[in-house]
Amino acid sequence: MEGLKKIVAKEALKFIDDDMVVGLGTGSTTAYFIKYLGKLIMEDELEDVYGVPTSYQARLLALESGVPVVGLDEVDAIDVAVDGADEVDPHLNLIKGRGAALTMEKIIEYRAGTFVVLVDESKLVDYLGQKMPVPIEVIPAVWRAIKEELEVFNATAELRMAAKKDGPVVTDNGNFILDAHFPKIDDPLDLEIELNNIPGVVENGIFADIADIVLVGTKEGVKKLER
Ligand code: A5P
Repeated sequence: MEGLKKIVAKEALKFIDDDMVVGLGTGSTTAYFIKYLGKLIMEDELEDVYGVPTSYQARLLALESGVPVVGLDEVDAIDVAVDGADEVDPHLNLIKGRGAALTMEKIIEYRAGTFVVLVDESKLVDYLGQKMPVPIEVIPAVWRAIKEELEVFNATAELRMAAKKDGPVVTDNGNFILDAHFPKIDDPLDLEIELNNIPGVVENGIFADIADIVLVGTKEGVKKLER
């Protein structure tokens, strides 16, 4: 699995040129991309490339790897964003947010000229929700109300608990995460919009119609899917 993550991360470097602003995704696959990007910058193979991180994880890794970091409010545009995903359906709709960074990821990737997704073939599904819940970032005071309101969608949800902290996961934005299991998501764009209409929902992990290119790591090499 690590080998497949590395080959897609290397392939993603082909989308990066001098003078680009690059959205830096979160997660274990993008971590390889950030390290490889830093190496090219440090070796002067790439010039004037800046990264806009989607999380503290991406920011720390970029700083450690030699990728100059800038804030979203300091750039006019993002040329390319590179990030992993938890599920990819046949239309290249995604579920993201296992790492709880979905809000900044969506903000940055929505605005990127090209959004390149890095996955291994185990992430390809027939429909969204097949294997993974949809993470929903919520304002802490309403987590219980929203959990109940999700029953309208026949979904069951649980509050995500932290592994090395007592109590719930708190996102980079200071919010909670509900992991929601839906029966079958037939219309990802519609559900994405409906969930964001619930007051107290900050953002949800359905990324419909945003990905431009998906690089899939397989034992036979990297497959490129385009929308
Ligand atoms: C972070 O919140 C997520 O959206 C990740 O980008 C996604 O879970 C992919 O992570 P891996 O590359 O570690 O599978």
